[in-house]
Amino acid sequence: MGKDETDRWLEQVYQASGREDLRKLYDSWSESYDADLQHVGYLHAPIITGLVARHVPSRDAAILDAGVGTGAIGNILSLLGYNNLSGLDMSEGMLAKARARECYVDLRKGVLGEALDFPDGAFDAILSTGTFTTGHAPASAFHELTRILEPGGFLLFTVGTIIWEEQGFGQVLDGLVRAKKLAAVETTPIYRPLPFSPLESGFTTRAHVYRKAG
Ligand SMILES: C[S@@+](CC[C@H](N)C(=O)[O-])C[C@H]1O[C@@H](n2cnc3c(N)ncnc32)[C@H](O)[C@@H]1O
Repeated sequence: MGKDETDRWLEQVYQASGREDLRKLYDSWSESYDADLQHVGYLHAPIITGLVARHVPSRDAAILDAGVGTGAIGNILSLLGYNNLSGLDMSEGMLAKARARECYVDLRKGVLGEALDFPDGAFDAILSTGTFTTGHAPASAFHELTRILEPGGFLLFTVGTIIWEEQGFGQVLDGLVRAKKLAAVETTPIYRPLPFSPLESGFTTRAHVYRKAG
């Protein structure tokens, strides 16, 4: 365990040969994922939980963590009093870790980029960290996420700076804004989510907040 071990995992997930390969890698990584990310100063959790506290004050809000992973974000939100948390992920291994935290009312397997098994307007807020990144969930997933968001609800998520344009995130989100389905609320400055990773310390991202028209 350590920075080098974390980098070996990061290298593998960023070079995954497809969705099934990626899913298996996360199943295997789930055992040491939390400790590995702590070693490299993972910054998404404090950023996104701060944004949730700013925009979604109700502790009863129905909040979906899309790409929930081991549930690190839910753990913090639960400690802050949020009591209606759900999570979705394509990796059973990661979901099992999230389940063990006992802070989610619902955890289920699902694939971002495909149809999601939730009714329209199911959530007051949807968050996602580290999942809209190279070779992971596609920009097209934002159509489904917008559908399952309650009118007036918030979308809070991170996207790697480079892939924002390269992989069509700007295009999809601008399109949803032009169609008056979403409004842009705020975007953080660029930050380095893995500052102490020798391999990925130069990787940069932003967190974005959008609100569904309502
Ligand atoms: C880097 S981890 C981030 C986990 C958690 N959000 C965090 O910040 O610690 C990426 C997670 O997204 C999941 N994932 C990747 N692509 C996905 C997709 N298309 N649909 C659903 N989950 C996906 C992986 O299984 C993994 O749990």
